[in-house]
Amino acid sequence: MLDFRLENRDHLTQWEPKRSPEFFSVPFWQAQFRAAIREFRSGASVCLVILSKDESEVLGVCNYTNIIRGTFEAAHLGYALAEKHQGKGIMFEALYSSKDYIFNVLKLHRIIANYLPRNRRSGALLERLGFEIEGEAKELLKINGVWEDHVMTSLINPRS
Ligand SMILES: CC(C)(COP(=O)(O)OP(=O)(O)OC[C@H]1O[C@@H](n2cnc3c(N)ncnc32)[C@H](O)[C@@H]1OP(=O)(O)O)[C@@H](O)C(=O)NCCC(=O)NCCS
Repeated sequence: MLDFRLENRDHLTQWEPKRSPEFFSVPFWQAQFRAAIREFRSGASVCLVILSKDESEVLGVCNYTNIIRGTFEAAHLGYALAEKHQGKGIMFEALYSSKDYIFNVLKLHRIIANYLPRNRRSGALLERLGFEIEGEAKELLKINGVWEDHVMTSLINPRS
């Protein structure tokens, strides 16, 4: 994971929150994995890592977080793919299969994904997966230190 993060530091800077120096260290990721397992067991999030076929390389991540039950039954989706693995349909495959787990096993009703209007690749990916645009939110997320407007999209579970 650290190799993935170091190798894609410049590629991901423009699309993600500002990272602290600790983010690029082994102890940070050891703690992060422990927290991810705890949150998975408690039902708060599903944080997935996309591996190469021989499992020697991290290709990307997709995270379903902020899972809220009750009248909401929804999660926020975030994802990142290594720069050199873009354009092969890898994230499409990862999200296509993981959304089935979110809808059919966890039985959530909605997956929410927000993207920067200038993030053409992300918008195209969500559209291919069937996410629908619901509006635009002003200054929704702080990306690389700046509060940025985002396009809000959702995918609704057809069987819930
Ligand atoms: C957003 C991001 C995941 C998109 O990656 P991607 O590789 O373009 O996404 P997909 O997996 O959908 O692949 C689509 C591309 O693969 C091609 N492709 C090849 N085989 C394919 C297949 N079997 N199925 C689907 N697409 C395929 C498509 O033609 C398309 O290529 P194009 O972009 O040249 O038209 C990636 O750009 C990224 O990580 N960006 C930085 C982080 C980020 O933006 N995160 C999201 C914040 S909202």
